[in-house]
Amino acid sequence: MVKPYVFITRKLPEELVQPLRNIAAVEMWDQEEEPVPYELLVEKTKKAAALLTMLSDKMDENIMKEAPHLKVIANLAVGYDNIDIGAATSRGIVVCNTPDVLSDTTADLTFGLLMATARRLTEAAEYVKKGEWQGWSPYLLAGRDIHHKAIGIIGMGNIGRALAKRATGFEMEILYHNRSRQLEAEKELGATYCSFDELITRSDYIVCLTPLTNETKHLFNAEAFKKMKKSAIFINASRGAVVDEDALLQALKEGEIAAAGLDVFTKEPIDQHHPLLGLSNVVALPHIGSASIETRTAMIQLCIDNIQLMLESHKPKTVVNKDVLAQYCSS
Ligand code: DGY
Repeated sequence: MVKPYVFITRKLPEELVQPLRNIAAVEMWDQEEEPVPYELLVEKTKKAAALLTMLSDKMDENIMKEAPHLKVIANLAVGYDNIDIGAATSRGIVVCNTPDVLSDTTADLTFGLLMATARRLTEAAEYVKKGEWQGWSPYLLAGRDIHHKAIGIIGMGNIGRALAKRATGFEMEILYHNRSRQLEAEKELGATYCSFDELITRSDYIVCLTPLTNETKHLFNAEAFKKMKKSAIFINASRGAVVDEDALLQALKEGEIAAAGLDVFTKEPIDQHHPLLGLSNVVALPHIGSASIETRTAMIQLCIDNIQLMLESHKPKTVVNKDVLAQYCSS
């Protein structure tokens, strides 16, 4: 019997991929950092039963309409805004993501980014390394306190709740905004539900964790930044396009907010000459929210498991478009 063809869009550890080779003809793009060119992805997808994709791969209708054998796209991320879910669903293609396994790791990074931005850690570290440290002075590289301040979390999913848990250790007031109330988080973490406007006006730290959708695109615009406190620090660890970056740049330059910590950008990788990177009150990271060795390994394993389950006609563990499953899976 001919084995189904599986294409993996980035070079992954062979020991994780190996079990899949027993049931499928697996091909892997041989670059670790360079994404697979779009045209090549179109070609590979034409014969694929399954794809293991990265958040940098744009999986649009154009690719899917020429994919008669494609059963599953396993995306190595919890976010799936790179995939046209409507197009996948209408073609009976199951889309899987990697929730849960990355929540604590992403919350760690998000809180670390908040701390680095508030206490000016990257700026201070560079200051020492560049030999600029001449002596101690009372306000030398003085930042803002974190403890006992108000943190406002936009997007109270698993990562948001894990972040709130970390904030309790700093005795912060926890505000949140979400599509639905999270009563358990309110009870267990003492989180208070707020409207978006109330949250952005009251919070000292505004943390964006909401997924990118048509509704959340440019949610943080000029109007939103104007409503924030002048001392507010804005943190984004979800997707760049949730923020209007021109408006953010303006707000930082005009002193409408104090600083920003950004792990994600509208265009990734961000151009090193982008004006946001020229500001000393911006801490920028290269989209490493879930990037610990343990968690990335768990995410890859989950994608491999999901593909294997689909190819063996079983229910994958983490499915985005659950309606599609019935036509494939016995259990
Ligand atoms: C995700 O999984 O969506 C994260 O952005 C990856 O770091």
